[in-house]
Amino acid sequence: VEVARTIDEQYKELFEGFSKLNREDRLLRLEKMGALSREDVQYFLSGAPLSTTLAENFIENVVGYFQMPMGVAANFVINGKPYAIPMAVEETSIIAAASKTAKWIRETGEIRTEVIGKNIIGQIQIAKVKNFAALEKFILENKTRLVELANREVAQGMAARGGGVRDIELRQIARNDEGHMAVLHVMMDPCEAMGANIINQVCEYLKGPIQDETGETVTMCILSNLVDTKLTRAEVIIPSHGREADLELFKRIEEASLFSQLDPYRAATNNKGVLNGIDPILIATGNDWRAVEAGIHSYAARDGQYRSVTRWSVVDGHLRGVFEAPVILGTVGGVTRLHPMAKIALRLLGVESADELSCVCAAVGLVQNLGALKALTTIGIIEGHMKLHIKNLTLGAGAEGQEIPYVQKRLEEILALTKRITLSNAVEVLKEFRNKRLPKISPGAPLNEAPEVNP
Ligand code: MEV
Repeated sequence: VEVARTIDEQYKELFEGFSKLNREDRLLRLEKMGALSREDVQYFLSGAPLSTTLAENFIENVVGYFQMPMGVAANFVINGKPYAIPMAVEETSIIAAASKTAKWIRETGEIRTEVIGKNIIGQIQIAKVKNFAALEKFILENKTRLVELANREVAQGMAARGGGVRDIELRQIARNDEGHMAVLHVMMDPCEAMGANIINQVCEYLKGPIQDETGETVTMCILSNLVDTKLTRAEVIIPSHGREADLELFKRIEEASLFSQLDPYRAATNNKGVLNGIDPILIATGNDWRAVEAGIHSYAARDGQYRSVTRWSVVDGHLRGVFEAPVILGTVGGVTRLHPMAKIALRLLGVESADELSCVCAAVGLVQNLGALKALTTIGIIEGHMKLHIKNLTLGAGAEGQEIPYVQKRLEEILALTKRITLSNAVEVLKEFRNKRLPKISPGAPLNEAPEVNP
């Protein structure tokens, strides 16, 4: 009871009224809660400048930076721990929907996560294997030695940290001509790194002894993004407490989920919605989101048909949602510890391991999916989306100062009436407001007299 109270208190202190605060107060709240340091807050307030020298270290032909809005998803409690979740994203309503859905779960249900497996996969291809049986025998008899060799010569640091190369497996693939291809899978625990560089180095290193000792020709070495040996699982449970309205909603969500299980056209959009929750965290923490995307999509198609990576079902009056897919990322290496914003994002999250960060991503992806399915099966996506989009349209039309609340209010009215709203509506409304406010000069009035202005 004591622990539950503490989490509750932490949660309230961090998130109560969070979305109503202005930007500075939001930052101060995060500082007060220890999620950000004074320096972090100062950095944000100074406009988060980045040196182009840093950019030159990352890529070639640098011309500058592309900036993206970064926000914090609120109300998440995952495995009983409250998180402030940094998300770098341009799409309106993603953070609002995630926070709103997380609040619903926090009030009635829970989010649990786990990582199953430890190893990532590196592939060594022998395009035209001469003698598969001999290669198989060689791997069986020598893999312990090869694993030790790789750990000693290439992955010393990783092995010292408790990870490193663990195993070598062999696969045979029928070619589209007569012959066969042999593919070696080098299995490695990358600890807190995403492991791309090290696994590629290990594979390229092993190419030498494998060629020399077997007489086979290695044709290429590269990691695989389909890491079905290390899966992240998130689960959401929401009880209905016997409420008919909740059960009705849960059944709608279950139907929507079945749709995405059975139809690849729907699965693609469903998974895009899941990635709406995951990619922004990967970007904020300096992780390779293309790698995670490739892993999730290929896992979604593992049985030959592309399906959703989430499943929702009604079990004993509870709504149960599960996300399962590889979410391979790192908290060291790459850009994560070099980009000032990625460093702040990791501090803000307070994750202690790459697995914990992976769990946060899976949880946010699943929650984001729930938010979308709830909206899609009830009010539809337009209303929620467009209400938030009104602000963008208002500014896009060029409204300023006191024009802004007027245009927003009129657009909300138009939306309620027509269920549709576009930039031209915003432009029209703004024109209407400006016309109304044009000074009316009565004939014969002295020109220097204050003009009458319509309210
Ligand atoms: C839009 O960015 C994401 C959705 O299309 C996801 C979905 O359809 O599940 C709303």
